[in-house]
Amino acid sequence: LLTYGGGSIKKNGLYDKIYDLLKDFDITELSGIEPNPRLQTVEKGAKICKEKDIEIILAVGGGSTMDCSKAIAAAACYDGKAWDLVQNPEMIQKALPVITITTMAATGSEADMFGVITNLETNEKLGMGSPLLMPKVAIMDPTYTFTVPENQTIAGIADMMSHIMEVYFTKDNAYLSDRICEAALKTCIQYAPIVKENPEDYDARAEILWANTIAMNGVCSAGKVASWSCHPMEHELSAYYDITHGVGLAIITPQWMRYILSEETVDKFVEYAKNVWNIEGEDKYQVANEGIKALEDFFVSLNIPMHLSDLNITDEYFKVMAKHAVEVGGLKDAYVELKPDDVYQILKMCL
Ligand code: NZQ
Ligand code: ZN
Repeated sequence: LLTYGGGSIKKNGLYDKIYDLLKDFDITELSGIEPNPRLQTVEKGAKICKEKDIEIILAVGGGSTMDCSKAIAAAACYDGKAWDLVQNPEMIQKALPVITITTMAATGSEADMFGVITNLETNEKLGMGSPLLMPKVAIMDPTYTFTVPENQTIAGIADMMSHIMEVYFTKDNAYLSDRICEAALKTCIQYAPIVKENPEDYDARAEILWANTIAMNGVCSAGKVASWSCHPMEHELSAYYDITHGVGLAIITPQWMRYILSEETVDKFVEYAKNVWNIEGEDKYQVANEGIKALEDFFVSLNIPMHLSDLNITDEYFKVMAKHAVEVGGLKDAYVELKPDDVYQILKMCL
């Protein structure tokens, strides 16, 4: 089964190249996988796999196509409803093998065991993880990312930076992992303006693509155990408003940082400000706040909308979103525990 999204691979020639290389294969297609992939598309794909006796899935695209393909791979080997597996990934006993050709640097989905699926009927966007979903092969050629539009490129960089910061800010100490996190963040900071200026700069695209992978393949998080903080909040926003995931994260992250800055966390924020943003100073809180501001200014310099109101989001559903984020997002075990009211306050700060 060849899976892809809305057609970018047809425009940039990858589609023809795949058919050329796979002349001898019997290929069935599932196209039109949407950003924030829908449960219905997973069900459609699983049905095709069962009917056509599909043996392998070739996912060509960004995180949405790859995530959807992983969910299809599991649902194709399961007799019940696909949503059961999204909600309870420990029920996954078997999955078709998935090969990924990544066309966008953002999620690291080409080399991780996760997929994120949206159920529009229940306004839920849930991540599922199982070692059985890990792609068997990931093909990563930076030239395939040359055609990613500027706004998606930048949103992708914000997403991978968030993946790194989600594991950088933990209670565990893992010296080497933290230094790798800092190097990966600095790589994003160094190369984001370059790809923005010149989307066909091979070296810049390659550095960003590699940072996207190591952000999620376990290298940055080795030795650390913690639930993430910003992603559960963002998933509520994209479930309700179908916004671009990386944009939501760019808005939430600096406000979350300000909200949790305290006597317990300030030293970690000083480490971050000094090692990632080269900020110096004696006053701990000043250094910490300058580090947070540097991140915010960086996103602004890349033209990311930095307020939820810029995306026409109001506080209408914040209370219910906050409750749900805590229920399903593991925020109890985050770097700093977040209760529904904390999430509500952070979302308000993002308006
Ligand atoms: O659909 P096509 O036509 O391919 O266009 C896509 C889409 O419109 C376009 N695009 C991708 N590669 C392109 C390109 N356009 C031109 N040239 C190319 N080479 O970009 C748009 C966005 O694609 P999408 O796959 O939605 O982006 P992304 O990679 O950011 O994936 C986002 C999804 O991944 C989830 C997000 O929540 C969201 O649903 N996540 C997955 C994770 C994982 N698997 O581990 C972790 C993340 O935290 C995230 O939650
Ligand atoms: Zn993400």
